[in-house]
Amino acid sequence: MNDPYRLPEHFETARFRLRRVNVDDAQSIFDSYATDADVTRYLSWTPHHSVTDTVTFLEFAALEWDQGKGFPLVAFDLQKPAEILGMFYPQLSGHRVSYGYVLRSSAWGKGCASEVMHWLVDHALSHPSIYRAEAFCDVENPASARVMEKAGMEREGILRRYFTHPNISESPRDCIIYSKVR
Ligand SMILES: CC(C)(COP(=O)(O)OP(=O)(O)OC[C@H]1O[C@@H](n2cnc3c(N)ncnc32)[C@H](O)[C@@H]1OP(=O)(O)O)[C@@H](O)C(=O)NCCC(=O)NCCS
Repeated sequence: MNDPYRLPEHFETARFRLRRVNVDDAQSIFDSYATDADVTRYLSWTPHHSVTDTVTFLEFAALEWDQGKGFPLVAFDLQKPAEILGMFYPQLSGHRVSYGYVLRSSAWGKGCASEVMHWLVDHALSHPSIYRAEAFCDVENPASARVMEKAGMEREGILRRYFTHPNISESPRDCIIYSKVR
């Protein structure tokens, strides 16, 4: 029997440092992107109103890590180690790992999400119990779809009326699903 899949509490890709998020990151996350409507547009949550919203989320995230269900990570540029760029959130479901990711807008377009997701997908699929790495995005979020392609995932199709993105509509929306399997 293999040990369950887990993420290391800190690691580096070529250009970025990742570490386990903790509740003390709340103010930085609140200040850098959690209130930004452009950042949250295609996410499952609405912009935070106070840092208490961010703390509540991070308390849930810490519990997920402790339970081995999810592994929320904050990312930093190795050249600018004090500034949080955003979060990556691998979640474990049996033989599958699914991913969410979000970056502050000043970090967009520099290859961060693609580089980190490539590392995460390869890491997951190198574990003996993981056979599938997957993620989905709203049909109107081409930057996220491109990140999945650049991470080595393949487009599988459209999941109709799959997920509600409350900043766009109260109705569930069509999403594009990507995966890499072994
Ligand atoms: C999606 C997100 C994580 C991408 O992060 P990033 O670090 O800027 O992504 P990368 O730079 O690694 O790659 C983005 C790719 O999308 C492309 N892209 C960006 N905007 C695009 C658009 N409107 N249409 C098509 N492609 C687009 C970029 O050109 C790049 O591809 P390329 O390298 O082939 O040119 C970031 O934009 C973000 O945080 N958005 C808000 C939160 C979000 O939507 N998260 C995903 C939820 S599913």
